[in-house]
This record gives sequence, structure tokens and C-alpha cells, in this order.
Amino acid sequence: MKVTVVGAGAVGASCAEYIAIKDFASEVVLLDIKEGYAEGKAMDLMQTASLNGFDTRIIGTTNDYSKTAGSDICVITSGIPRKPGMTREELIGINAGIVKTVSSSLVAHSPNTILIVVSNPMDTMTYLVHKTTDLPKSRIIGMGGALDSARFKYRLAEALGAPISDVDGMVIGGHSDKGMVPLTRMATRNSVPVTEFISQDRLDQVKEDTKVGGATLTKLLGTSAWYAPGAAVSGLVQAIACDQKKIFPCSTLLEGEYGLNDLCIGVPVVLGKNGIEKIVVLDLNDAEKAHMSESAEGVSKTNGLLSL
Ligand code: LAC
Repeated sequence: MKVTVVGAGAVGASCAEYIAIKDFASEVVLLDIKEGYAEGKAMDLMQTASLNGFDTRIIGTTNDYSKTAGSDICVITSGIPRKPGMTREELIGINAGIVKTVSSSLVAHSPNTILIVVSNPMDTMTYLVHKTTDLPKSRIIGMGGALDSARFKYRLAEALGAPISDVDGMVIGGHSDKGMVPLTRMATRNSVPVTEFISQDRLDQVKEDTKVGGATLTKLLGTSAWYAPGAAVSGLVQAIACDQKKIFPCSTLLEGEYGLNDLCIGVPVVLGKNGIEKIVVLDLNDAEKAHMSESAEGVSKTNGLLSL
């Protein structure tokens, strides 16, 4: 199992680290345009192998895509991250050009790869990859919902005073402050609806804190977060590499599901060795449906800024 991660910045390096630590891939190639940077990160990570107990080989390269040839899974993290006060949508101008070049270079060397898009604005970057590569829709996956759901579970556990392992919940919709749809109605604490334990007001607060999860961290860190994004990507990569058939909310091209067409947005999908093996259509109530279509409108508006 060969995995390429493009972008050796904080998110890309965290992805490579978590993938290596889980020890299911034989090789991880880390690629960056900054001279020597990916090689340095790869060497530093390899020097944790004996300490952390993994055999995954991590190789760094400065923009040499021939080293990525034959990758089963490729992750695109490249592009500029947001600064405090910026929305993910504001990154579109620079990141669209980068994602287009990176995805076509990856597919040229690994025509059967599964591509995971992390660069922001993520739903629009995922749509761009659909429009500019020949990969089937099952092989193009946007990572946002897995991260947003992890942040939702963190906030739920905090509100419930419960361990995170006791909590389940999912965020669908666009990966943006306004577009996220945390499904509070379906969130549970060990199978019991969370509404049995906390008030609607507290739950509404959890929802709002989840939606600005990335922005809160950007303000604290001065740049966007990396540990949870890296861990979320590694979860998707592992589900595919190990054919786990796990459900994660991911951005995928919709063709009528949820009443939506011609856009990529977060919905639950089953991930296995073929990438997206099934789109799960949830029975949303009227409020959730309204929130989802509002979110889709926002994503379509950002897609409209692409010059395709
Ligand atoms: C975040 C970035 C990865 O939400 O979009 O932290």
C-alpha cells in the first residue's frame, strides 16, 4: 500500500505521521515544492520509527512526481492555509490553481489512485478535481466531515461531562463556518439521544462551537489546525487501505441524492478499497433539509468562482 501526501506543511506532515504510526501502509511519499522541506520532514519522521514502533517507509521529495508513481491513495493538502479572520472561501484564488496542477500531476503518475482533497475551500476544490481529472466519482473524496464530526464529538463530550468514547455524532454539509450541519437530533451518548442529558440551549451552543471549530483554532494558533485534520485524513486512508467499510461524512459528487446535483458536499459514505462504495441517504427532518439546502447554495456559489 503506497500513499502520497502532497504538501509537507503542518497538515501534510501530521497526515504522514498518523498514517505511519498506524503502520498499515508500506510506503508514504511526502512531496512539497519547497526545496528539501519534504525530505527533512520525512527524515525526521523516519527517526521516530524505532521509538514509535512502525515499519512504514516515509520518503520525501521536492516536487518529483515520478516518486509518487503507483500510489494507491493520494492526499492533497497543498495550498495556503487561512489566517485569523479569513474564511476558507477566501483561499480559492490561489488554491484552485495549485490543486488543479497537483491533481493532474498525481493522476498522470497514478491513474488508478484514490484522491483525498483537504485543501480549502475543500468542497469546491473537490468539485474542481472532478471537473479537471478523469477519475471516477468514487475515487475523489473531500475530507471535512470527518474532522468536523470529531470536533462535534469533542464539544458534545464537554457539554455532557462524558468521555469522548461514549459519544457519537456526525456533521454533514459544507466544510465552512456557515455550511456545516451538525446533526444534533441524531447525536447519542452510548445509544441514548443526547437531548436526554442536556438542554436544547446547551445543544445549540455545541452546534455553534462546532461550526466555528476551525476558526477558533485559527485565532488561537495564527494559522489553521493540523493535529485533528491529520488524524481525520489518516482515518479515511486507513478505511480505504484496510477495506474497512466504515461510514464517514465526506465531500462527494451528488447526483440527485439529498435532492442535490452537480456539487460536492459532505454526506455519509461507506469507505472501502474502492473509495466511496456507497452514499448513505439519511432521513432528514424539514429543518435539517432546509439547513442542508442552504449549505449547498453556499457551496454552489463558491463553485461559481472557479474558472472552469
Ligand atoms: C480546518 C481546516 C483543515 O477546519 O479546514 O481546520
